[in-house]
Amino acid sequence: MPFLWNAWYVAALACEVNSNRPLARTLLGEAVVLYRDQAGQAVALSDRCPHRFAPLHRGRIHQGELECPYHGLRFDGSGHCVHNPHGDGRIPPAAHVRSFPLQERYGMVWIWMGEPQHAAQTDLLPFEYLNPEHNVTASGYLRTRAHYQLSADNLLDLSHFQFLHPATLGSEQMSAGACTFFEQGETVWSRRIMHNEKLQDFVANAFGVAPGSNADRRLDVQWNAPGLLTIEVGVTPSGMPPEFGRMSLSGHFLTPETDRSTHYFFAFGLPKAMGEAAGALVEYAVQGLMEPFKNEDLPMLEAQQKALGDSDFWSAQPVSLAMDGAALRSRRIMERKIAEEQRASGMRQTTTVIDSTAIMH
Ligand code: FES
Ligand SMILES: [Fe+2]
Repeated sequence: MPFLWNAWYVAALACEVNSNRPLARTLLGEAVVLYRDQAGQAVALSDRCPHRFAPLHRGRIHQGELECPYHGLRFDGSGHCVHNPHGDGRIPPAAHVRSFPLQERYGMVWIWMGEPQHAAQTDLLPFEYLNPEHNVTASGYLRTRAHYQLSADNLLDLSHFQFLHPATLGSEQMSAGACTFFEQGETVWSRRIMHNEKLQDFVANAFGVAPGSNADRRLDVQWNAPGLLTIEVGVTPSGMPPEFGRMSLSGHFLTPETDRSTHYFFAFGLPKAMGEAAGALVEYAVQGLMEPFKNEDLPMLEAQQKALGDSDFWSAQPVSLAMDGAALRSRRIMERKIAEEQRASGMRQTTTVIDSTAIMH
């Protein structure tokens, strides 16, 4: 399946990008190098020197410019070669690399891999609970050797906890919970509500419920293209009104590395107004979730991808169950958006050809 190019993707956690060491990352199949210039501004360039194709990430950052490790050409943040240490120092006009539009929001560096002229016109979706001005946040990263849509399926699927996460996130009572899905514009929702659940200790502690006691839990997953999800969890001791409960919001951002691997970024945010407890709680949530994500979801996703091999998801003829409603909706939206983008880009190419023919005559 091809990618959706004209969209904002998370390229890196903000803390991964610095001015000392270039960061190499493959995004949508393209080799990209990220670093910070002298002003601390994040920069993303194509990770291939135009001279003899050396990977630029192996070079060094010199006064905010990236120096090729092979013969020392230097590139600025816009991708232009600004220094040639050889001969008369003349810079060939073709000595530049592609630079990608970036923005730094919500503790992440977001990249635009598509046509750059569309980047400024496309707003990033709001994830205000991760806005560091008002919130304390903590984040995590995992690389999964599986197609990003398998990861989106996994996050939208609230039916696997009981089986894949029996001792961490799941409970015996989950499959009895009421499941609903709905679609609003291009947003898909997956919701599950459980009553009288015996939560695992990690979840009970995170939500301030006495371990071993019964609780009501609400899970709400919101998906937007290309793979940007918010998970809201509300937990209330059974029989108590909702104001006695606690809720959490977390962001889950999927960026295709290739068509068989995914960068998975996730983050929790809590209002600074909560004081010191907020920092401890978001750290606890990230550390606590890293375990089941890494030891339970990740091996399953990678095993699914292995089982699929070279087959496309649909050509493998998957059986669908009632609880797949949200994942199927998100897949359909992605397929529609990718097809629209391909049609539009085909039309633009045709127009260019017609124009150049006209000029030749
Ligand atoms: S390969 Fe980069 S300067 Fe030669
Ligand atoms: Fe899971």
